[in-house]
Amino acid sequence: MSAEASSLPSPQGRGTQGGRAMTPILSVRDLVVTFAIREGVVTAVNGVSFDVHRGEVLGLVGESGSGKSVTGLAILGLVDAPGRIEAGSIRLEGEELIGKPERELRRLRGKRLAMIFQDPMTTLNPVLRIDTQMIEAIRAHENVSEKAARDRARQALLKVGIPSPEERLTAYPHQFSGGMRQRVAIATALLHRPAVLVADEPTTALDVTIQAQILAEVQELAAESGTAMVWITHDLSVIAGLADRIAVMYAGRIVETGAVADVLERPIHPYTAGLIGSVPSRNKRGVPLAQIPGMTPSLAKVPPACPFNPRCPRASVTCRTIMPEPTPYDGARMARCHHPLIEQAPAAA
Ligand SMILES: Nc1ncnc2c1ncn2[C@@H]1O[C@H](COP(=O)(O)OP(=O)(O)OP(=O)(O)O)[C@@H](O)[C@H]1O
Ligand code: SF4
Ligand SMILES: [Mg+2]
Repeated sequence: MSAEASSLPSPQGRGTQGGRAMTPILSVRDLVVTFAIREGVVTAVNGVSFDVHRGEVLGLVGESGSGKSVTGLAILGLVDAPGRIEAGSIRLEGEELIGKPERELRRLRGKRLAMIFQDPMTTLNPVLRIDTQMIEAIRAHENVSEKAARDRARQALLKVGIPSPEERLTAYPHQFSGGMRQRVAIATALLHRPAVLVADEPTTALDVTIQAQILAEVQELAAESGTAMVWITHDLSVIAGLADRIAVMYAGRIVETGAVADVLERPIHPYTAGLIGSVPSRNKRGVPLAQIPGMTPSLAKVPPACPFNPRCPRASVTCRTIMPEPTPYDGARMARCHHPLIEQAPAAA
């Protein structure tokens, strides 16, 4: 097990039962994903490791291009050429997914793994009625009558806050508002109570009030069905209200992880602190985010050693010459930084 993986124990109250460690539902280890592009081969995900337990929400955050979506797609087995999983392990309830035949992955995607995207039409078929899509999704994997499948679909719509679901079932996706359409996509993704749901910015395009309602509904559903979620976003205010733990990505690496309250209240990594500095407070909605000075590096030209060094106010010569390794901290935290922001001594490895 890598230093990073071993430094990611479960947060308090999670991952243990009767003092025994519980197997995580999803376990990602040392994941490396590359893209062969004109400029050469770029490493979009560079040694990422994390665990997610039953009913837990892991928030995956970071600026644009940090590798969040590619990590999510890799979990579902959806990295396509020019992308390639070079190394690592992705285990679903102990079962290795990397290297599985596409036919098996497709079967898993309908049942135990699910993903929702910013555009709900990635999940929904525009030319089919909602009932056709949802009933087909159920009956493709389960031997149930059409009536039983319709009942399930109606219940699922009710749970994501869609009024008069019987009527709505006979509609086409374009007859719904953006928020309602996303609710249908979420209801469809959760029909089988998947073991893992990867959500890639599904509420970003929505109005703040609708966003909050959908987040609350998804949270309740996941808790009820025990679904483990990886929630990808660049918006820390979404994570603050939704996630149990947070993993902060920068240039393809996880640079900090921990329980969400710990990380947001006392960040260890200067990049995390920069991101927090750019979150609008509740009463400042609509005000543009402050920016961390400088640009996210192009993956074709990642700075040497700590990739954050050109933008970091604490950067030293060490940061420009030696890659900081994942270091465990008290409270099941991890950060990769030579000059961490908290005074606490790193916990023994
Ligand atoms: N289809 C592709 N072809 C070539 N390179 C790609 C492709 N998809 C991703 N990449 C590379 O992987 C990097 C990470 O992409 P990814 O989509 O995971 O970023 P992200 O963190 O999800 O960003 P955003 O917040 O903008 O969605 C990109 O910067 C790009 O260099
Ligand atoms: S290692 Fe150095 S450059 Fe990188 S985040 Fe820490 S202080 Fe900044
Ligand atoms: Mg993305």
